[in-house]
Parts: sequence; C-alpha cells; structure tokens
Amino acid sequence: MAARPEPRPGVMQIEAYVPGKSKAGAGVVKIHKLSSNETPLGPSPKAMEAVRAMDHFELYPDGSATALREAIGAKYGLDPARIICGAGSDELLSLITNTYVGPGDEGLFSEHGFLVYKIAILAAGGVPVVAPEKDYHADVDAILARVTPKTKIVFLANPNNPTGTYLPFNEVKRLHAGLPPHVVLVLDAAYAEYVRRNDYESGLELVATAENVVMTRTFSKIYGLANLRLGWMVGPAHIIDAVNRIRGPFNINGPAMAAGIAAIQDDAHVGRAIAHNEQWLAWLTKEIEALGLKVTPSVGNFLLIHFPNEAGKTSKEADAFLTGRGLILRRIDAYGLPDALRLTIGDEEANRLVVEALRDFLSGRTSHA
Ligand SMILES: Cc1ncc(COP(=O)(O)O)c(C=O)c1O
Repeated sequence: MAARPEPRPGVMQIEAYVPGKSKAGAGVVKIHKLSSNETPLGPSPKAMEAVRAMDHFELYPDGSATALREAIGAKYGLDPARIICGAGSDELLSLITNTYVGPGDEGLFSEHGFLVYKIAILAAGGVPVVAPEKDYHADVDAILARVTPKTKIVFLANPNNPTGTYLPFNEVKRLHAGLPPHVVLVLDAAYAEYVRRNDYESGLELVATAENVVMTRTFSKIYGLANLRLGWMVGPAHIIDAVNRIRGPFNINGPAMAAGIAAIQDDAHVGRAIAHNEQWLAWLTKEIEALGLKVTPSVGNFLLIHFPNEAGKTSKEADAFLTGRGLILRRIDAYGLPDALRLTIGDEEANRLVVEALRDFLSGRTSHA
C-alpha cells in the first residue's frame, strides 16, 4: 500500500503548461506582451458594456448557457442543441478527451501541435501518439499511419499554434476519410477568424455531415475575451449529449456569457481585428525576413521566427534582448522548437519596436538608436 495518495498513472508524466510570460526585467518602462496570441485591439466595447451591466452575482448562471448557444447558432446557422460552451476551449478539449479516452487508449496529434492535447490525453490515462510534421505542417499521411485499434481521438489545430500553418479543407477531408468511424476528430479552430485563404474551412461543413467530428472555437483570440474564459464546441448530437454528462453544471459564468453574446454580434469589431492582422502579419513577415531571419508563413495572429544556432544570435539570446526592451515573445522549447520564438501580432508601436529590436540584436547593438 502506498504511504501517501498516488496520482493516477499518466498524471505525473504531464509537464504543467507554462503560459506566456507577462513580465520584463527591472527598469523596463513599458511592456508589450506578445506571448499569448491575445488581440491588441481588446474586446468589443459592446462586450465590455454587457459585463458592466451585470448584477445579481449571488445567483448561479444559466447552466446550459442557452442565450449564448442561441447567439452562436444564429451567427453560424447552427442548431444550438449541438453546441456546448466551455470555460475556454481548453476546458472543451479536456472534456472531449475525458469522454472518449480511457486508460491505455491512444490520442493522436502532430509534432508541433498545441500542447494541451498531450496534457488532456495523459490526464485521461491515455497514451499520447505524435505524428511528425513536414516543414511545420501537419502531415495527413503521417497521422493516418499512426492510427491503431486503440486510437480514440485525433486532434488537429487548424491553423496550428505555434507554427501558424494550416491544412486546406481537401486535406482535412482526406484525414477524416482515412479515420475509422469510432475515432473522434477534433478540429481546433481557435484562430479560424484570422485566416484569409479560399481553400480554408474551419470544420463546420464536416461537423454537419459526419458522426465523429467536432470543432472547437474560442472567444480568447479575435474576440479579445481571454480573461473571461469562454469557448464553444459544435458536434453531432450524440457527442454533445455525452460530453454534457461530464461537464460541470455551471461551467460558464454570467459575465462571460453576456460578453460572448455581445462580442459575436459585433461584426464591425471583428472586421477591424481582421484588417489589422492582415496588414501587420504581412508587414512583420516581410520586415523580419529582410533582417535575414526565417519566418514560417502564418495565417494566424502570430509568427514563428527561427534563429540561427550561432553564439550571439540564438533564440534564447534574442528572447533576453527583446525582454530587456519590454518586448515579451514566447519561447517554444516545449513544442520541440528550441530555436524559434513565437511573436503575437501587436499594435503598431509594438510591431515596429520588435523589428527595430531584432535589427539591433542581429547587428550586435545593445542600446537604442
Ligand atoms: C490552438 C489553440 N487551441 C485552443 C486554445 C485555448 O484557448 P482558450 O482555452 O483560451 O479558448 C489556444 C490558446 O492558445 C490555442 O492556441
């Protein structure tokens, strides 16, 4: 008998998720947090008004988030009964995993896929299986080649974080077509709103026609509501029914619901965020490449910048240099990308400062021009 309580198998294999930094060293006057893919535009003012108008905090919220599911349904032409809301899409990723993965079952994701998938699979007692990527893109053949009778779930972040790459819809359909019907395919479309590509589809179409596909979305990114923790998932009725059985009865709080309803109806605000991202994603890619650094082409609101493994120019040194100027990027060693940093597209001031700082870093200059 153990001398003290022992966590279930798998739990101690989890390396706890480390969120993006938000602090710089002493003496930094202004900090630009570019480490968690948050929007520089903030939330819709209408969402903030809705939160401020809330009262009756002594009452439990609506446990089925009916008004929010109806607002999401109206926006996307979906049946609200096939939507489930979560405290961030992270919660939904855990819930779907806990619903379908048990001890010894396998969960599959790609090499540089979002870290929460591995955590969710291990937490459920499952076995994480990793498919290699090709040039930082998920590889459908590599994923399908790793499906076994034990595979219960496949995660695809599309676009993926931290690479910023995406799979066109025909590839997603090919992935789905190659999976046995008992495997749940989770299409994580946290950054879908940012994508400006004709061959991209977030997953709505597959969800509508398949019995084993769900799509997750978030209010944390383009809607700027990360602090309120709000996400949603759409799927076939039988999956939503099963996941609802293990969902906490009041997992979404009232202010988050009110903000979500207002945010999803504010097309003008989302439009501004899309336009801002389109402009600065292109500008940053061009400017950073012009400095001689390799940038993985991104369709999200962030960029993967690769640094040479050369003393004085490494990602670690770049990170320290940028942090010294109050520019907080994301180290992504945990994603198997120790030579890269991830940069979230910021406001104009931050974006220009990043390029200036990288220029100074690469030229060995330490002080401001
Ligand atoms: C690909 C991807 N999925 C899901 C999430 C989770 O977002 P949230 O739990 O805030 O909805 C993130 C956040 O970084 C992400 O990058």
